[in-house]
Amino acid sequence: MKIGIVSAGGDCPGINAAIRGVGKTAIVEYGMEVIGISNGFDGLIDMSFEPLPENRLSGILTLGGTILGTSRMKPFKHQDGDTVEDKPQVIVENYHKLGLDALVCIGGNGTQQTANLLSKEGLNIIGLPKTIDNDVWGTDVTFGFDSAVHIATDAMDRLHTTANSHKRVMVIEVMGHNAGWIALHSGVAGGGDIILLPEINYNMKVVAQAVLNRAEKGKPYSIVVVGEGIKVPKKKGAAEYIGKQIFERTGMETRATILGYTQRGGTPTASDRILATRYGSHAAELIHNKQFGRMVCITGNKINSIALDEVGGKTKLIEKDNPLVKEARNMGVCFGDKCM
Ligand code: F6P
Repeated sequence: MKIGIVSAGGDCPGINAAIRGVGKTAIVEYGMEVIGISNGFDGLIDMSFEPLPENRLSGILTLGGTILGTSRMKPFKHQDGDTVEDKPQVIVENYHKLGLDALVCIGGNGTQQTANLLSKEGLNIIGLPKTIDNDVWGTDVTFGFDSAVHIATDAMDRLHTTANSHKRVMVIEVMGHNAGWIALHSGVAGGGDIILLPEINYNMKVVAQAVLNRAEKGKPYSIVVVGEGIKVPKKKGAAEYIGKQIFERTGMETRATILGYTQRGGTPTASDRILATRYGSHAAELIHNKQFGRMVCITGNKINSIALDEVGGKTKLIEKDNPLVKEARNMGVCFGDKCM
């Protein structure tokens, strides 16, 4: 069998570990031929790809980003200025021109939606969930997430010392798109005093009071963690807005730090390497067993798969009764809705 691998959407640590997991299992265990599609689904439009023999998969386990390149082009979504009217049709034709028996689509929500639609066009598709946001429905966790949480947590550890020294309120903005998973997990791991999530509506009066309460207890500094997707008047300005509001309401010095793309860069953590490898290995097994139209997933600690039709671009948000939110609240962490 000849299989193609494509990485699409935002990059993250672990994609190369996943490519290696699919490729080595396919080659070593099942004797398959593997090619890598360049730059997301664009590569299936302009037929740019490279062979992925076993020796090309060496040395990439620890490499951040994706050796194949990526793009956010969504073939089923018509964009202004589109030159190729029927991108899906071109992709189907090129899939057959390349003589592919299957295509592994590594990506987040949008990519899994495209994967499902390509599956409905009759292609043999396997989805492999990746994103630092951890918001792909149908799996407990995506690789990239643990690495982003590590990066954000390390930043928070550093902000504690400077907040303490200057008696300041430090507001740190983390990624996550419309989900608060990175903010919640790094906020707890990094000892955040206030954690604002897109999933929980906050009230600035409550936030300001929480900061003042800490000062009254002899802690005139706070670490405020905000998910980039929280509701603020100006898009892409969460940390600045929250910092300014806290200063205006409390008079306490505040500084904002936007972690941005550092959360997407660098080498994957060991956990992400293992998860990406397990996902990749299972993807190759599904292809060998001709179980297509499915996305690899993990539930509990068991690697499994779920029909792409069930996943199709759905977003996994923090649930109302999330246990980690409850445990943090019970320790006095303020989520901006109500505080001790
Ligand atoms: O989906 C991953 C992500 O990093 C989000 O957390 C963030 O909002 C978005 O990508 C940024 O998109 P881009 O890489 O296109 O700037």
